[in-house]
Amino acid sequence: MGKVVLAQYFPEEFDKILIRLREVGGSFHAVEKSRGGLTHAEVGGFLGAQWNLPDPLVRAIRFHHTPGAAPEDPDHIASAIHLADVLIKTRNIGSGGDSDISGLDEGAIRAMGLTEDDLAKIVEESLEKELKDSREILEIYGSWE
Ligand SMILES: [Fe+2]
Repeated sequence: MGKVVLAQYFPEEFDKILIRLREVGGSFHAVEKSRGGLTHAEVGGFLGAQWNLPDPLVRAIRFHHTPGAAPEDPDHIASAIHLADVLIKTRNIGSGGDSDISGLDEGAIRAMGLTEDDLAKIVEESLEKELKDSREILEIYGSWE
């Protein structure tokens, strides 16, 4: 959500982030932070609050890259979104601007009651099955390329 706002209303800064991301790699979020401005997570969280979204959802948007920094500790929703973001990046799904998974928050793994071995098993086994099932459902509706 924050990226859409940044791209729409601050296209020059957004383009600079993308250019820098191509130069240095890493994550979109890390490049944003290195430039010292607001991040898409902060913009999205602010917008969510302005829209009166429920607080847990606003926190999840705001802290989806840094669930360990959320005021609720552990923040299960932010942790779940963070892990989902990392998991889909392992399969190059979506187009969030990067495929960097180095920012995996180990606290999010613990917050979800998982171990790193569990996460590896999810990536190696469960995720592929879930993606296959999702593809089949989306193909039924003609939404999968
Ligand atoms: Fe993000």
